[in-house]
Amino acid sequence: MAKPKTRYVCQSCGSVASRWQGQCTDCSEWNTLVQESAEVSSIFAAKHNLQGGGRVIPLVGLDHPVALPERISTGIAEFDRAIGGGIVPGSAMLVGGDPGIGKSTLLLQVCADLAAKGRGVIYVSGEESAEQVRLRAVRLGLGKAPVRLASATSVRDILTTLGDNGGADLLVIDSIQTMHSDLIEGAPGTVSQVRASAQELVRFAKEHGTALILVGHVTKDGTIAGPRVLEHMVDTVLSFEGERSHQYRILRAMKNRFGGTDEIGVFAMEGQGLTEVPNPSALFLTHRGEPVSGTSVFPAIEGSRPVLVEIQALTVRLATGATPRRAAVGWDSGRLAMILAVLEARCGVSFATAEVYLNVAGGYRLSDPAADLAVAAALVSALSERPIASECVVLGEIALSGEIRPVAHAGLRLKEAAKLGFEKAWLPKGIDCDDGVQLTRFTNLREVVDHILGR
Ligand SMILES: Nc1ncnc2c1ncn2[C@@H]1O[C@H](COP(=O)(O)OP(=O)(O)OP(=O)(O)O)[C@@H](O)[C@H]1O
Ligand SMILES: [Mg+2]
Repeated sequence: MAKPKTRYVCQSCGSVASRWQGQCTDCSEWNTLVQESAEVSSIFAAKHNLQGGGRVIPLVGLDHPVALPERISTGIAEFDRAIGGGIVPGSAMLVGGDPGIGKSTLLLQVCADLAAKGRGVIYVSGEESAEQVRLRAVRLGLGKAPVRLASATSVRDILTTLGDNGGADLLVIDSIQTMHSDLIEGAPGTVSQVRASAQELVRFAKEHGTALILVGHVTKDGTIAGPRVLEHMVDTVLSFEGERSHQYRILRAMKNRFGGTDEIGVFAMEGQGLTEVPNPSALFLTHRGEPVSGTSVFPAIEGSRPVLVEIQALTVRLATGATPRRAAVGWDSGRLAMILAVLEARCGVSFATAEVYLNVAGGYRLSDPAADLAVAAALVSALSERPIASECVVLGEIALSGEIRPVAHAGLRLKEAAKLGFEKAWLPKGIDCDDGVQLTRFTNLREVVDHILGR
């Protein structure tokens, strides 16, 4: 192996000598030669010795004073809530959602609100002509907002335009899949193009303090199309969801470097655009009128997201001595048998002469044991024909002893329930909630049965 060489550099003229000497041979200064880190002497060392040849980066401590990022409020409270309290200057956001769900509509409304407040806003559409965007703005009653529009797909053109116009507070790119960077080969929408375009736009945003919102297409299974790395490159990933046949839409943060991801923003799609729904229970619970016996609501967790599902039970008394049927849709039949057994053995509620049907509404499949208590409550309610209050959610795992055990993510579930207008919760001991939900805690299934039966 080649011996690492030490080099001596003259601090006056910069000339390099292989050994120390009192006077620099180039500038004739005395005592200016200083030993520097070993010169890279082989290809191996060039690759592996990283302790020389670089710039020294100043290191700072954690206690270095920093100002909290000032957030720009958009004036759309549900949007601000979902992103953690407003747009952070210099941050990059990615908004994904099914085709036609209303991404362009939402962002145009955000742009118009910010522009009306005197912020510099640029909206670049790669999918629609400026004329089309203007038509949408007129339909939404935003025709007068001072948003600057462009229809472009070249990242270089967009960034040059921004530089020429003195930057902007907010830049919206609709969508990143239509953008094209001339730094690399390939058609727009390919993995490498999407990555390169996003990288350039994000770098510009960070350097200039411009907030950047990218619209991203989603694939069939709902993930954002293109490279997964796109989600790592941005600070916030938002998903705009909803059934197109229903009018409500939910904006949810999947990742947020500047806030939590447990808040959602709820909107309704109407002729004049998206309107905020500050009290979503009005939308979600319209079909839940008078309380019906045999139903309970369970706050499920789907991936990292809470989803409220309704559990329905029906019992039919059999006059004959035939073996009663047990049928479960969306719930494990073995677990249903277990809950029925615990109800009979520990609480004295017998289903021996009744047929039992259990259904999880909306074709949803539940495998979370935290739904045990909601299933048991629905069963007892069906058998006794005593309804459970319709503004109540039920959660808890049931042990064979009849004990009610704690569940994971209880805080997240209760937060979602509160957001959707639920006021009460039945749950195991040891869970706190500061979202204004009235908690009734149980340690044993027998207490729940007594509660439903009014004993
Ligand atoms: N004249 C109208 N009246 C009422 N609603 C309309 C009208 N025009 C469009 N919409 C609604 O707006 C939706 C389209 O919104 P938008 O173009 O913002 O969606 P998008 O998510 O940007 O779609 P894409 O992925 O195609 O860009 C339609 O699905 C429809 O619900
Ligand atoms: Mg669009």
